[in-house]
Parts: sequence; structure tokens; C-alpha cells
Amino acid sequence: MCGIVGIVSEREVSSTLLDAIKRLEYRGYDSVGMVCIADGVLSTKKDIGKIEEVEKKVNFTALKGTIGMAHSRWATHGGVSKRNAHPHEDCNGNISLVHNGIIENHNELKAELQKKGHHFTSDTDTEVIAHLIEENFTGDILETTRKALCRLEGSYAIGVICTKKDDELIAARKESPLVIGLGERENYIASDIPAILPFTKKIIFLENGEIARLTKEKVEVFDLKGNPVTKTIETIDWGAKQAEKQGYPHFMLKEISEQPTAISDTIGDRMTEHDILLDEEIQKAIPNAAGLKRLIVVACGTSWHAGLIGEFMLEELAKIPTEVEYASEFRYRDPIITEGTAVIAVSQSGETADTIAAIREAKKKGAKVISIVNVEGSTIARESDAVLFTHAGPEIGVASTKAFTAQLTLIYLLTIYLAKKRGLLPQPQISNRIRDIRKIPHQIQEILENQDSIKRLAELFFRHTNALYLGRGINYPIALEGALKLKEVSYLHAEGYPAAEMKHGPIALIDNKMPVVVIATKDNRTYTKVLSNIAEVKARGGIVIAIALKGDKEIEEKVDFVLSIPENSYILTPLLAVIPLQLFAYYVSVLKGKDPDKPVNLAKSVTVE
Ligand code: F6R
Repeated sequence: MCGIVGIVSEREVSSTLLDAIKRLEYRGYDSVGMVCIADGVLSTKKDIGKIEEVEKKVNFTALKGTIGMAHSRWATHGGVSKRNAHPHEDCNGNISLVHNGIIENHNELKAELQKKGHHFTSDTDTEVIAHLIEENFTGDILETTRKALCRLEGSYAIGVICTKKDDELIAARKESPLVIGLGERENYIASDIPAILPFTKKIIFLENGEIARLTKEKVEVFDLKGNPVTKTIETIDWGAKQAEKQGYPHFMLKEISEQPTAISDTIGDRMTEHDILLDEEIQKAIPNAAGLKRLIVVACGTSWHAGLIGEFMLEELAKIPTEVEYASEFRYRDPIITEGTAVIAVSQSGETADTIAAIREAKKKGAKVISIVNVEGSTIARESDAVLFTHAGPEIGVASTKAFTAQLTLIYLLTIYLAKKRGLLPQPQISNRIRDIRKIPHQIQEILENQDSIKRLAELFFRHTNALYLGRGINYPIALEGALKLKEVSYLHAEGYPAAEMKHGPIALIDNKMPVVVIATKDNRTYTKVLSNIAEVKARGGIVIAIALKGDKEIEEKVDFVLSIPENSYILTPLLAVIPLQLFAYYVSVLKGKDPDKPVNLAKSVTVE
């Protein structure tokens, strides 16, 4: 959802800006632009397309100056065009601005400014901010920007530079993420930490309603009334290397391959051989786990799928009634939060606008919020009563992979923790369940080492146009997730369905061209029913690809292709079954000549509603 970076320094900044904005390209890649000030003049280069293409065309590093900003756009207001690419300027070319978010009252402001003679050169909501600052400019860019912000409705993270104060970079945020990085005689702003990780690990998280003035020597933060705010400097422990491809052709493949480590790191020291150690993290939100009456999970997209699997785990082992809600729907109903209800927010980025809105709604109604988040310092992490961080490391590929299995890992630990607190799991069972999750990283590694068979299958199917994914029980959300991965990175139409529901509609679609991916792991619950569903597909000529347990001979006779996964407890099969589906989507995308890291129309964190 648009990436912003800015630097004020004593050295030339354009090549560092280019480096930084490339690390943010996952936030949007409709267009890209950069501005620097040299000798009191703004110079801007921008165009539509991915950074690499635009860079070849315009040569960003030719821009001179020790202060500058860059922006990668995910279009909201105004089509994908050069004139709508950021940065945007005022009429006189003194003020330049980059923005992530939506200014909801931009039409009224634009009309007002046009009456005063301002000339607009784009169709964006953003440009009004530059003109608003110009209209009221007093010579003090911080003060004028602060006053302009008080007129805005909607969401923003902005960076502003001005030729009249060419040693000051102004930054502000409301509802859209923005961090400040502290360097050696230079300071930075960025939408997300990975952009500036190679330059600094010292970060200040800007809060809603704060505005900052950065010079090369110092950073000052104020509230929107102009009062100074004292901020804490946090040190980020992610290595810059973690946010690079490290020899992989794509971030998606790198991140799929990192899942064994992501899961081990997420478990970290939260487990001993016989116990789950979450007291310190959870008790702030739920001092009395035994008294919990109901859980509501709020999330979007892949994180919502993790929530659906969580519902299964929490109800089965901890016996807590659990509902899983799309965050975007939850907030627009009048959700009933009764005593003893806690809300679990699941989010990789911690910045998804709908999930933020949902937790605010839940808190307003008196619920305690526990969040499962990957990005430290993110809004959801900061606004929750308790946070469990997935230590998956930076996830750059737009399609979420390692964050998903890390989320499942934490939900599993949380489930066992709650089950124990509620006296539902005797000690030997806790130890067994701990042993089960410990096996998962090796088992995922085993699947990764056999990925050639998945690649070969992708070679057979990448020209198809539709696919159906079926699963039952705890693996139904894996059918949804497999279909989502295929859709988003390869643009193939795919539907996820509960296997038994197929008979109530989608069966009409099945013919001898339709690949049907079925999660058919042998268990004593739904396996035989899934075999019947497979027979129904086969009877109509469908092509069946089964995700099955290693050594399952029975399934081999009933389907066209089998992708095997190792055996673990039923409740942990989703962590294994999803891996071949992630790899399948990846290889189909690559074979179709697409870029799986940057699917069209998508952005990594959806910071608008
Ligand atoms: C799919 C995907 C999205 C995200 C969703 C929520 O691969 O990445 O569906 O899962 O936008 O994002 P987070 O988890 O950051 O709240």
C-alpha cells in the first residue's frame, strides 16, 4: 500500500534512496518516483512501472542532493499514470510530498484551493496536501505542515521537503505506518523497517497524530498541537541480510524454504520438553485463562485462514468456543462482546487497516486483545493487551507463506497453554504435543527437499485456467489457502471448498480439464469420506491431485497424482499440507512467466480499508 522513504544527510542521498525504495517495492509497484533538493531546487523523476524498469528509463541516481524522498505507489485515487505517480508538488515547485493512505475530504479541500487559484496536475487525493501547505506557508515547514494536517480527514503517512528549509525532512502519520531510523549524521523515514535495515537498527516508531522534524543531526517529535513528545529509541534485531534474496530467484521461494527456521525461531524458548511458557506474554491480557468463555479471532486473507485452523485447535483441545471473523466484517456489525470474551488478532504486518479497526472496536466494547504479529513495533502489536510475536523474520514476498506457518505454530502453543490452564490436558499429553511440534521443522525440510515432484506437476498444469481445492476438517482452510496462493501469484482461477460441499454446487464445474487438489491425509476422522469425494470427482472425469501421507498406497490407486507429506498428529497436518501447495503455486507462477513476488494489483500490507 505505497512505500515511502526519505533521507536527510550530509552526503548525496539518491543511491541510498533507490536502495531503500527497492526494499519497499512489495508495498506497491504501479509507479515509482524520487525527489531531491540541490542548490535550492527540487528535482523529481517518476514514471509508471516497476522500479527496475523505471530506473533504466530515468536514472534516479543522477539526482543530486543531500535530502530527498522516494515513493512506490499502489494506486487508490487516480489511475496508474505518470502524472499520478508521487512525489507531488505545490504550484511553485517549492514543496514536495510523498503519501501513503487516503485523504477522504480531498474533494472539498481541492475545490477550496482551486478557488484560491491553486493549479492541480494530478488526479490523486495526495496533491491537496502539498497545496494546503503552500497556501498557509509561514516559512516554518514543520509548523505549516502541522496545521495542514489538522484539516485532513482519512489516513496518511507523509514525508515533506521544502526548498525554503532544505535541511529539514518532515514526517507524520495517522493510521498508515511510518518509522524513523537514526543513522550517523543522517536520519531516515520509511513505511517499513526492512527499507532502512542496512543503514540502521535504531528505530523510533511514530504514533498516530505525531509529526517529526528530521535534520541530519537530530530528530524531534511533536503532537498535532505542537507539544514536544519524548520517544523511545528501539533496537531492531533483524539482520539486513534477512531482507535480501540471498541467492534465491524470488523472495517467495526463499520464504517458503525458510519455514523450518521460522517455526523453530517462533517456538524459541516458549517451550521446554514438558511445558509451554507463555505466562509472561499472555497474563497481561488474560490473567484468568480458566475463566475464558469465548474467543473471537479477527484477521484478513491468509491470516484469516490461520485463524480458521486456530478455531479447530482451540475448540478441540482447549474447549473454548471460538469464532473466526473477517476483520473487515467484524467492525461493521455490532459484535457482541460478553464477559469472558477475548479477541485474538492475527496479522503478519501488524498494519492491516481492517484488523486494526477490528481490534479497536473490540477494545471499545471491553474485550482484551491478544495479537499474533510478525512485525515488531507495528500498530496491532502496540495496541494489543498482549502480543505473541511470530519470529518469522521479514516477509517480503507479497504472498504470505512463512508467516502463515509461524502463526499456526503460535496458535498451537497458545492452545496447549490454555488447555493446560483449564486442566484439560494431562502432563503426558502435553509432552506428546510438544514432541509433535518439535518434529515439524524437519518434516517441512523433508518436503522441501522433494520439491522436484511438485515442480514437475506444475509443468503439467500451468496452462490450465481453473482449479478446485478440497479439504475437510482442519484441512478445509488449507484448501482455501492453497487456492488463494494459486490465484494471487499465477492468476489462475482457483476455488477452495469443503470437500463435502462440492456436491452442493461446484461439482457442476468438474470435467476432464479440471484439476482438483484434495487434501486427503489418512486419519480416523474424515479420510474415508474424502475418498468418497475423490470418487465423485473421478466419476465425472476430473483430474485429482492428492496431498496424502507418505506410504498411503490406497490413495495412489484412486487419484492421478500424489504429493506426499510426512505423518504427524492430525491437528498439525495443516503445517505440512500447505507446503506443497505453496510450492505448486510458486512454480505455476514462474512457469507462466509471472513475478510471484509482485502479483498485479496486490500489495504486501493493506493499510487502507
Ligand atoms: C495472501 C496475503 C494476504 C494477507 C492479508 C493480511 O498471501 O498475504 O491475504 O494475509 O492481507 O495481511 P496481514 O497478515 O499482514 O494482516
